[in-house]
Amino acid sequence: MSQPPSIAAELSIDQLLLHGFDLLQHLSTFLEVDPHDLKQRLPSSSSDLAALHPGAFDPLTVETFYEETVGDGHLLELAAWHLSSAAYIADTLRLQAQFARGHVLDFGGGIGTHALAAAALGAVEHVWFVDLNPRNRAFVSWRAERLGLADRLSCHRDLSDPALPRAFDTIVCLDVLEHLKDPAAQLKVFHNRLHHDGHALLNWYFFRGFAGEYPFHLDDPAQVEQFFRTLQSHFLEVFHPWLITTRAYRPMPGNAE
Ligand SMILES: C[S@@+](CC[C@H](N)C(=O)[O-])C[C@H]1O[C@@H](n2cnc3c(N)ncnc32)[C@H](O)[C@@H]1O
Repeated sequence: MSQPPSIAAELSIDQLLLHGFDLLQHLSTFLEVDPHDLKQRLPSSSSDLAALHPGAFDPLTVETFYEETVGDGHLLELAAWHLSSAAYIADTLRLQAQFARGHVLDFGGGIGTHALAAAALGAVEHVWFVDLNPRNRAFVSWRAERLGLADRLSCHRDLSDPALPRAFDTIVCLDVLEHLKDPAAQLKVFHNRLHHDGHALLNWYFFRGFAGEYPFHLDDPAQVEQFFRTLQSHFLEVFHPWLITTRAYRPMPGNAE
């Protein structure tokens, strides 16, 4: 399926590097905040988000934190990160462009950088953006509409939504696994919902930070070990040249659960 050149051009790597796909402009219009005020809030957005967290990773409340507590806080924090680390984000988009095709799941898609870029790729039929945070979903739906991509990208709360396909051709899950109550179980869900010839693009950071700046990251050694055992028994890594922190995988057969 090919894309009109205008959409692909608006979501090119160059545009990401220039302004994150008009990120500040989009955020300021969506939040109805003056662009100057918005820029001033970005530098503290990471510590503002950490301050909302009760302080210890709690599997019983972690989902409520993302769904009810963080609100617009994550939009600001992710915007600050994507703008200040644009070269890194650009490499994740190059990686995505190499593998994404057909029906793409962006699990925990945040502000939609990857989902929007994937929706503009000719090999992609539809992007299914899943995120617990209703403000993230509203922002990404709004951006998709604005970029003329509303018919190629839809937003959903979780994978139990019956509108979602049973299996995907590509699963993108970047900087999310360490936020989940059971990352190993999530890998099994991905394995079960990935076509046998599909690819999963994954990364993780099971660390609360040298100064405790990521209190919302899971770092329990037993769970991390279980994660790697599950990864190694369910997926085979595929080499790519873009990043060493973000990996590409094919599902291994015979392990569906
Ligand atoms: C650090 S952000 C990463 C966003 C995006 N993938 C990126 O690379 O910029 C983590 C995202 O995962 C979402 N999230 C956390 N737990 C989730 C869950 N159980 N299901 C779906 N999304 C979740 C959060 O709302 C947030 O948008």
